[in-house]
Amino acid sequence: MKKVTVAQLKENSYIDAPVYLDEKFILTSPEIPLKPELIQRLKKWNYQYVFTDGLPTDSPPASTDNVVTSGESLLDQDIKEKEANERARQFFDKISKEMEKIFGEFREKGDIREERLIEISKEMMSEVKQNKHDLLRLQVPQRDDQLYLVPHAVKTAIYALSIADFLKIPPHKQINLATAALLHEIGMLRIPPKIYQHNRALSPEERKTIVAHPVISYKILKEAGFPATVCLGVLEHHENVNGSGYPRKLSGDNISLFGKIIAVASAYSAATSKRPFRDEHDGHTSIMDLVKDGGKRYDERILRALIFTLSIYPIGTYVMLSNGAMGIIVKTDPEAPKHPLVRLLLNEHNSPYRDRPVIQPKDGDEVTIERPLTKPEVEQLKEVLGR
Ligand SMILES: [Fe+2]
Repeated sequence: MKKVTVAQLKENSYIDAPVYLDEKFILTSPEIPLKPELIQRLKKWNYQYVFTDGLPTDSPPASTDNVVTSGESLLDQDIKEKEANERARQFFDKISKEMEKIFGEFREKGDIREERLIEISKEMMSEVKQNKHDLLRLQVPQRDDQLYLVPHAVKTAIYALSIADFLKIPPHKQINLATAALLHEIGMLRIPPKIYQHNRALSPEERKTIVAHPVISYKILKEAGFPATVCLGVLEHHENVNGSGYPRKLSGDNISLFGKIIAVASAYSAATSKRPFRDEHDGHTSIMDLVKDGGKRYDERILRALIFTLSIYPIGTYVMLSNGAMGIIVKTDPEAPKHPLVRLLLNEHNSPYRDRPVIQPKDGDEVTIERPLTKPEVEQLKEVLGR
């Protein structure tokens, strides 16, 4: 296909073959004029080229049989998603920078600015309330030059706040919860990174050091004057409801609510993050791993809140449907966590859907969600879509 610069597109003219965006999405067909709004939006989004085999004309083709639907609604959808994703990413980056500064200051001078953390926690609480789905679907690649603790802290706070929102925890408590989630691993900064970033069995001495991090975090925050609920949440984020956790082997309701929420949020964040010793897991696999430990490690009520918020198939998961078609989860239904909304990408014959319809498969329907796609299947899918 030829590349045509967006600047060359003439308003209200036609092109006698389909025009594609990104070599992937159909933008418009020969029967549809290039509307001024469409061209403006392409410019706004810095699309410099479109792709087509056609030539510009001033009128539509004589035959209008087989009219394909305008690509405009697809473009609208695409732009809306890109805007939401960009907003969420900017917010995530902004908070990450703040946390980088906070951890840096702590490492250098041993100070933590509590007022700044309360401000950040407040900001995060209102952002999660307004744009929960956009933040939850955000996929954050780990930068090599960045401390793992930074994105892990921000992600844990987003998941903790989403759980708290589902459980209708009042705002003043949510602010404290977010602060505890942001700082729950701060004790790790006092442990040599080579101990917790390596893919090898730890010596008993090294394991002891790792196991000490909740106590170290607790002491740091207590000394800095943080509220008792924040300190306790941090201290108890590795306690398990069956009493097998650490440092105090607490069980059931002897573990604080913040401790239980941060345990689930931090475990989900860790599972979906790339670590030096393994690749990240997809959202569905991570949720299923947590579910296996429900009632043993994690409190069932908290786990349920995470599942109802994320759904069993979190947003952004690529899935195989029972008829062999493939799609991506675009929205979750808090009323029905097993039945999220799927945008269809490839049909059962492995051809891309032109209009990419959104469906909500339910139990007993002709087509249901069967499983998440494996990594090689996702690569293959992206290749087909990119052709
Ligand atoms: Fe931890």
